[in-house]
Amino acid sequence: MYRDVSSCNTYNYGDAVYWDARYLQEAGSFDWYQRYSSLRPFVRKFISTSASVLMVGCGNAVMSEDMVKDGYEDIMNVDISSVAIDMMKRKYQFIPQLKYMEMDVRDMSFFPDEKFGAVIDKGTLDSLMCGTDAPISAAQMLGEVSRLLKPGGVYLLITYGDPKVRMPHLMRPSYNWKIALFIIPRPGYQRPEECSTPEKSNLEQVPLTENGLLSPNFVMEDPDSHFIYVCQKLDDSDPNNIVPPYPLSTDAL
Ligand SMILES: C[S@@+](CC[C@H](N)C(=O)[O-])C[C@H]1O[C@@H](n2cnc3c(N)ncnc32)[C@H](O)[C@@H]1O
Repeated sequence: MYRDVSSCNTYNYGDAVYWDARYLQEAGSFDWYQRYSSLRPFVRKFISTSASVLMVGCGNAVMSEDMVKDGYEDIMNVDISSVAIDMMKRKYQFIPQLKYMEMDVRDMSFFPDEKFGAVIDKGTLDSLMCGTDAPISAAQMLGEVSRLLKPGGVYLLITYGDPKVRMPHLMRPSYNWKIALFIIPRPGYQRPEECSTPEKSNLEQVPLTENGLLSPNFVMEDPDSHFIYVCQKLDDSDPNNIVPPYPLSTDAL
């Protein structure tokens, strides 16, 4: 399977030691990629405020706090870094809608099957893809996400990874996910004034080819855009809900 090492630098983002050291140095809060304000249209569209939500690899992001302010009632946050989790437990001890637990997303056996209505991942699969044994770690994590989702539930993945590097991991038939893709520009992106193409809404779904790739004619306005994969777990027991496996292109293997 594809490992997009191009975006991984010399740090081992899959390693708890790296993250503990980083969170010790940076005691405040930091949201990777996007803040809740930009993601809100997607979160509100695909996740009900009454859903039990699992935030995987929460770090010290403010996203969960912002979701509670926006009406979300139950968010379980997990991270492999004990430093981040201890900090967040202290910070949010008086907010009952937010819970924090130290946990490796590759083994979330603490939780029973189909516990959550939604799982949100902002940058955590990306971290695993930069660690050792990347494809195995990714498969372990995604297998756990699939197990923990209720039928009909949604895995919302916010990543820098384009379909070529992420779809081969997401489209395993055993997950039975119906996947929709959205693309949003990085924060602060300014559309060039001379841009002649009409501006599209970020909430417009981006079509994928039958191989799960972007069409060769697709033009991404901001080359540093972020990708939002909305993976809905279909009900296995309904024969109408079997997702045909995407024929994998050879360059995605
Ligand atoms: C790029 S940061 C994203 C943090 C946060 N989601 C955000 O949006 O700002 C990745 C996070 O994943 C966590 N992480 C990395 N590997 C993990 C694993 N195996 N299990 C749980 N968390 C992990 C790191 O500790 C870090 O907090």
